Amino acid sequence: MKAIIYRAYGQPNVLEWVDDWPEPVVGPGQVQVKVRAGALNPKDVLLRKGFFRSFLRVLDRESLPRVSGLDMAGEVVRVGDQVRGLEVGQRVFGMSNRFHGGVHAEYAVLEADEVIACPEGLAFTEASAIPLAGLTALQALRDCAGVQPGQRVLINGASGGVGHFAVQIARNLGCHVIAVCSERNLKFVTDLGANEAVDYHQTPAPAIPGPFDVVFDVFGNYSVRDFSNSLSRGGRYVSTIPSSRSLPAEGLARLGLHKRSRLVIVHSNRSDLAVLRQWANEGKLRVHVDQIYPFYHAEDAHRHIETRHTRGKVVMEATC
Ligand SMILES: NC(=O)c1ccc[n+]([C@@H]2O[C@H](COP(=O)([O-])OP(=O)(O)OC[C@H]3O[C@@H](n4cnc5c(N)ncnc54)[C@H](OP(=O)(O)O)[C@@H]3O)[C@@H](O)[C@H]2O)c1
Repeated sequence: MKAIIYRAYGQPNVLEWVDDWPEPVVGPGQVQVKVRAGALNPKDVLLRKGFFRSFLRVLDRESLPRVSGLDMAGEVVRVGDQVRGLEVGQRVFGMSNRFHGGVHAEYAVLEADEVIACPEGLAFTEASAIPLAGLTALQALRDCAGVQPGQRVLINGASGGVGHFAVQIARNLGCHVIAVCSERNLKFVTDLGANEAVDYHQTPAPAIPGPFDVVFDVFGNYSVRDFSNSLSRGGRYVSTIPSSRSLPAEGLARLGLHKRSRLVIVHSNRSDLAVLRQWANEGKLRVHVDQIYPFYHAEDAHRHIETRHTRGKVVMEATC
């Protein structure tokens, strides 16, 4: 089958579009999907660069070459034993929990719990843009921050993949949203529903007057200490970036000891995908696709996401 693979870690030019990759075999509890579109995430870049090399060696012993990609949308072509609620021909979207993904190919095999029927009326390219970024935003705000209606939520990095969903999700959860992005995206985040929008070149997030009940540092260039003056008593700071500070803090939080600083670690599951689908069906979660590339131009798509100035999502479309 056709697939986007890399045989070595490195720059986007290590990516290859090959046509002789073995088709993945569906097992019990899994589905095989004919992939129609796949979104890119910064993690795809980190994986390609070998950032998680040591971790992956311990985690799943997968070696190179490997297929890239974590997010996809397409049609179910085979259903494994013990799968309920999914059938051949169904349009689905989802994210693989395999650390390195492997779904940017003609066919992908995912656990049945990692996919769900596509939102109504969305193109495959739009549906594929939702899972990883949407789940991260939902799990950060609902689970890590525990947001409540009426709370004031600061979102730093509000115009990218995770951020543009976070703005809408925080509003859906009844919060007052202060969105931080560059000047060119101020109108974009306001149109998504942000109550206030701030240009980080004029006022960096830690200098914005609080109080905030939640700071969701999507871009991840700060720490909880930077918000000690603006985070309310009992307020929470959530980062997306594992670091020597955020990892131990998250360990303490999971032990129920200290919940002021949290680290979101996205996990794909059908019930959270269903929440996102419901909002998409109701028009409460819109997808902004910055640019669509064909799969065979994966190198250009990776260069785009690497700029760290994507508005919404970068998506690739299958042409086979
Ligand atoms: N822990 C997890 O489970 C998890 C899950 C998902 C993502 N992540 C991480 O979360 C981060 C964001 O992911 P993403 O998908 O949203 O990335 P993305 O789509 O590449 O987001 C890029 C956005 O960041 C903004 N930005 C650039 N420089 C900034 C700055 N100095 N201050 C504030 N915002 C700035 C850009 O806005 P302007 O163009 O307006 O500057 C752009 O809209 C990545 O590092 C990713 O690896 C972690």
